[in-house]
Amino acid sequence: MKPDAKAPVASGTLGAEIALRIDELAALSDEPGRLTRLYLGPAHRRAIDLVSEWMRAAGMTVRLDATGTLIGRYEGAAPDAPALLIGSHIDTVRDAGRFDGNLGVITGIAVVGRLHASGRRPSFAVEVVAFGDEEGVRFPSTLGGSRALAGRFEPRLLDEVDAEGVSRRQALERFGCDPAEISAAVRAPASTLGYVEVHIEQGPVLEAEGLPMGVVTAINGASRGSVTVTGISGHAGTMPMQLRRDALAAAAEMIAAIERRGRQVADLVATVGRLEVAGAATNTIPGRVTFSLDIRHPADHQRTAAIRDIESSIKSIAAARGIEVEVTIDHDAPAAPADAGLSERLGRAVAHIGVPVRRLPSGAGHDAMAFGGAIPFAMLFVRCRDGISHNPAEYASPADIDLAARALADFVDRWDREAGQ
Ligand code: GLV
Ligand code: MN
Ligand code: MN
Repeated sequence: MKPDAKAPVASGTLGAEIALRIDELAALSDEPGRLTRLYLGPAHRRAIDLVSEWMRAAGMTVRLDATGTLIGRYEGAAPDAPALLIGSHIDTVRDAGRFDGNLGVITGIAVVGRLHASGRRPSFAVEVVAFGDEEGVRFPSTLGGSRALAGRFEPRLLDEVDAEGVSRRQALERFGCDPAEISAAVRAPASTLGYVEVHIEQGPVLEAEGLPMGVVTAINGASRGSVTVTGISGHAGTMPMQLRRDALAAAAEMIAAIERRGRQVADLVATVGRLEVAGAATNTIPGRVTFSLDIRHPADHQRTAAIRDIESSIKSIAAARGIEVEVTIDHDAPAAPADAGLSERLGRAVAHIGVPVRRLPSGAGHDAMAFGGAIPFAMLFVRCRDGISHNPAEYASPADIDLAARALADFVDRWDREAGQ
């Protein structure tokens, strides 16, 4: 069966209910007219309030951990039973799509809501987890919430600052979170069965193959950093070309070298997504430029080799132009294979609702990356129209979402039945 992405979905289905909530949550933004919801910002607070209401209505008790992760718990048949975590993130990039992250949280709540409506208590607890620091738009590093759950939150991250000079520690305190309590967020293996995330694919593979969903095999490793290029600013009319120390011209050469290196190896991606020119003016030679780096590959050795080469090209371009340069790598997340057992279970649920099981890697980062070796995880991707994401045109159909929600519900139900045998 290859359901049609455009097929209408009946009202009253999980897909229709989730699609309505996706729109409701998308209205909560830090910027008028477009969706931007940054970690620990005002829209993040409003999103936490709305999602908490939905969690309570689905029978969950709700708490916020010390990193600003919202956690709703639906108790199992026995108190203090180990929990299956279902989740994703509710922060967004700037001018975001509405499905990235939000879909997984809302789908988790819908599946728990279905248990609650029928008065069922599985043998395990189900917790829906809404992380707030997945996109890494506000601070240089990312995955603060999921790293804390995995026991991998490094205290140095508290000193990172955002563009306004506010530290992560200050932002957490202003949000009502206590950074001293972050170590208490860690999940003990004995209390956690695993983590499952439904996420829009953010790429074109499922659509090209006419499939509504797929099971993730692994998440590519990713590094992020920044480069500061310092030349000498000067008058654009008076300074001869051969005497200039133009930081922007140097940065342009560096960016071209980064793109060339990214193209050298299959599956490697290297991106400069942000560039700031200090004191930019048409008639001023730029004296200082900062730009970001984002480098990813399924194999960690390829990613680290690319970072090494890129750093060395940047330094030789700077030296040839008599310019200062500083390269900082702020964030390294190794490639993370999904747990074979959980993914097998998820695959069986997909097959059970009549969809061929397609397994595929994830080029995008996800909170689950922080879990490798600490919390077993599996992910279910939902078909994404035209493969477009991090863009307001991002779209997954209610019909596909309905299938994914049914697969997730089936996954929970079967696991519960097996656990009871
Ligand atoms: C998050 O969306 C990332 O892949 O950077
Ligand atoms: Mn995401
Ligand atoms: Mn994203």
